[in-house]
Amino acid sequence: NEGALWGARFASGPSPELQELSRSTHFDWALALYDIRGSHAHATALAAAGYLTDDEARRMHEGLDALAARVQDGTLRPRPTDEDVHGALEAALIDEVGADLGGRLRAGRSRNDQIATLVRMYLIDHAQVIAKELLALVDALVAQAEAHPGAILPGRTHLQHAQPVLLAHHLQAHAWPLVRDLERLRDWRARAGVSPYGGGALAGSTLGLDPQLVADELGLDRPSENSLDGTAARDVVAEFAYIAAQIGIDVSRLAEEIILWNTREFGFVTLDDGYSTGSSIMPQKKNPDIAELARGKSGRLIGNLTGLLATLKALPLAYNRDLQEDKEPVFDSVATLEVLLPAFTGMVATMRFDTDRMAELAPQGFSLATDVAEWLVKRRVPFRDAHEISGALVRACEERGIGLEDADDELLASVSEQLTPEVREVLTIDGSVASRSGVGGTAPERVAEQRAELVARAQRA
Ligand code: ARG
Repeated sequence: NEGALWGARFASGPSPELQELSRSTHFDWALALYDIRGSHAHATALAAAGYLTDDEARRMHEGLDALAARVQDGTLRPRPTDEDVHGALEAALIDEVGADLGGRLRAGRSRNDQIATLVRMYLIDHAQVIAKELLALVDALVAQAEAHPGAILPGRTHLQHAQPVLLAHHLQAHAWPLVRDLERLRDWRARAGVSPYGGGALAGSTLGLDPQLVADELGLDRPSENSLDGTAARDVVAEFAYIAAQIGIDVSRLAEEIILWNTREFGFVTLDDGYSTGSSIMPQKKNPDIAELARGKSGRLIGNLTGLLATLKALPLAYNRDLQEDKEPVFDSVATLEVLLPAFTGMVATMRFDTDRMAELAPQGFSLATDVAEWLVKRRVPFRDAHEISGALVRACEERGIGLEDADDELLASVSEQLTPEVREVLTIDGSVASRSGVGGTAPERVAEQRAELVARAQRA
């Protein structure tokens, strides 16, 4: 079992089938540079506690630097016989600095505390990349909102025409969940910044190494309070996978609307050629594939989360090899978001709105009926009656095949004596939108204020 991290108590080496099953280098090599950073920190802690002389520590750090350079330029790769990133790098270190020095680094640490720490470091770095991409998407939505301050959208509930709203209000409604996702990532970071390093396999170390020193070197906040928890817990990984899934879900809801808006029936948006695809058979086609991929990949992100949760369920303390299954799903969630978000942001930033088409559809479906009822309430009509009167007007107009705004004085009066001609004040789309000036409402000045708050929250997260 040449170059392996264990073997002395075994009469034979591992079977090829076991090696095949056990190997994780094809995915955990992504952690190689984090492993080396961990080794630098651990060497510093060993030297501080007197287990390495100054000269040994210097040679150790130089050897680790050489390894890092070779990982980066691709000349150091795991061998087929390496079980995991830790074993591969220890073997390489021994090649680099000799077995006497290279063999000292494993004192006081285990692959169990190493891997638990490295995953956190990896996720913390990628959380920053994802946060930046999310912020860019929020910015793209805000820019579209700003570019269309007066545009009206037929607001929907149950996918049916409900009440007109500002397009900007609607776009900002898609930005808020993304701002909360940014805040989730920030809150997660506080829990992620705990270092299990030094917890050993499960029970802690006898060597008196300083875990705070290691945490500081690794950019983490503090050592884990409990070595069993530190090596066995993966809730921080699952929480990250949840946030990734939530981001996917939030993006998918906007994606679904863009797919609808981009149909001939809606005709609300045109996607930029650079962010649309064609058909191999139908020459005329221009498809919203980015939005469809966003919708599809949200399913994959949910799958990564549920797969990981299933791995963790009922797993006894402390480390179990099942935990090796935490990495592929969460690495996939990272990779998925890191390719999806830039494409999605580009699509949102470049899509063109047909504001005339949206304005044309906004009054359809009697979307001002609530305005009529509320106008009556302002004239002291109980809402219950106002609802009835407005509903009767809708029915009368529907029978005649006209819109509410087309009802003449006679028709209004025949529905109710309360419906005087002044009701027409509220029978315009712009008037309706402007009058919804309560907190969080769609009136233009509220929407502008809201946008300022949205931008401030996004910057703070
Ligand atoms: N490769 C393992 C993982 O990803 C870490 C090594 C721990 N292995 C062990 N036999 N204790 O979780």
